[in-house]
Amino acid sequence: MLTKRVERLTPSKTMYFTAKAKKLKAEGISVIDFSVGEPDFPTPENICEAGKKAIDSGHTKYTVVNGIDLLRKEIAIKLQTDNAVIYTPEQICVGTGAKQPLFNAVFAVCEEGDEVIIPTPGWVSYEEMVKLAGATPVFVPSLEADDFELDLDAIEKAVTKRTKAIMINTPNNPTGAVHKTETLRKLGELAVKYHFYIISDEVYEKLVYDESGHVCIASLSDEIWKQCIIINGLSKSYAMTGWRIGYAAANNEVIKAIKAIQSHTTSASNSITQYAAVEAYQGNQGSIKKMHEAFNRRRNYIIGRVNAMSDISCNTPPGAFYIMVNIKKLFHKKYETIEITSSQVMADLLLSEAHVALIAGEAFHADDYLRICYAVSDEDIEEGMNRMEQFIQKLHS
Ligand SMILES: Cc1ncc(COP(=O)(O)O)c(C=O)c1O
Repeated sequence: MLTKRVERLTPSKTMYFTAKAKKLKAEGISVIDFSVGEPDFPTPENICEAGKKAIDSGHTKYTVVNGIDLLRKEIAIKLQTDNAVIYTPEQICVGTGAKQPLFNAVFAVCEEGDEVIIPTPGWVSYEEMVKLAGATPVFVPSLEADDFELDLDAIEKAVTKRTKAIMINTPNNPTGAVHKTETLRKLGELAVKYHFYIISDEVYEKLVYDESGHVCIASLSDEIWKQCIIINGLSKSYAMTGWRIGYAAANNEVIKAIKAIQSHTTSASNSITQYAAVEAYQGNQGSIKKMHEAFNRRRNYIIGRVNAMSDISCNTPPGAFYIMVNIKKLFHKKYETIEITSSQVMADLLLSEAHVALIAGEAFHADDYLRICYAVSDEDIEEGMNRMEQFIQKLHS
């Protein structure tokens, strides 16, 4: 018999579409895949070279649990320079991707009986991590009309004596929203007032396309800093998804707990990757700039194309590499005899009939939407948009 903990788990709904797309591709069908949240660029050359050098230099053994000194010092410098926030290297714990530090953070502060506020649309793994820890996710919607900015009134109303944490993500997957300084400050003040933690996932930090820029909530006051657990990683910003490296930064008490959890699970992140990550931070940032330019160009193209199509629309998301396409007007239209009753039905039809893979918004508690990931080549984006447009033209009342 499996545990109740596991029975509560929902298999990843994003993986469902990615797996289906892979299957079609394996059958020789040309699928335009907007489903995977992964940069389509290779890891920059200088980072790969640093990885090879780490192997040749014999850096192939266990490292200390929280990561090599050199890397934690580099992350502390990065946090100070890019995010105006001070963490000592001892207040940083390097982990396997951003996912493991997130999991560690949830396990460090949440248990049975606790509630964790998760703004929606939100990334699929937050609620599952919270459930695994035995706590209860409490969903608070953000609205497209507000450009998916956090609804602070609704968040305050959702706070109870059991609220242990809120999990935020800026820039956001799936909405591309970048939370404003004033919103973050007010949220921080709520966390101080009601004594809950803010687990702030900032993995898309480098991908902001307008003037606003990314703000790390821990930088906003000393009191807010104490409530924060900052999570970041190199997967998205340095095209290093397969290297598996990220980190948590938090006050002494929390980081000690995170380190203890990690010491009994993965021990430490991959040693070779840790040396490559030092190069990512220290080396030339030119390739990051190139990726940023490409993502911005693709984002603008898709926004133009989607808003020119009938019955679907999108806002202008300032960050990450995702766009939420509003499909509400398509509900109850039909493809042949199949009625579009949900984002799942629409995403399934787009995949099977037009060979375009997207994620149904239902996966993010946002059934009126489909998520497009534009970390895909310009040519594929153009072809994907053409296919979507042709498919939507075939729908009837
Ligand atoms: C919001 C968000 N946080 C964390 C992660 C996990 O990142 P990593 O691959 O570094 O574990 C992802 C990956 O898709 C993500 O979208």
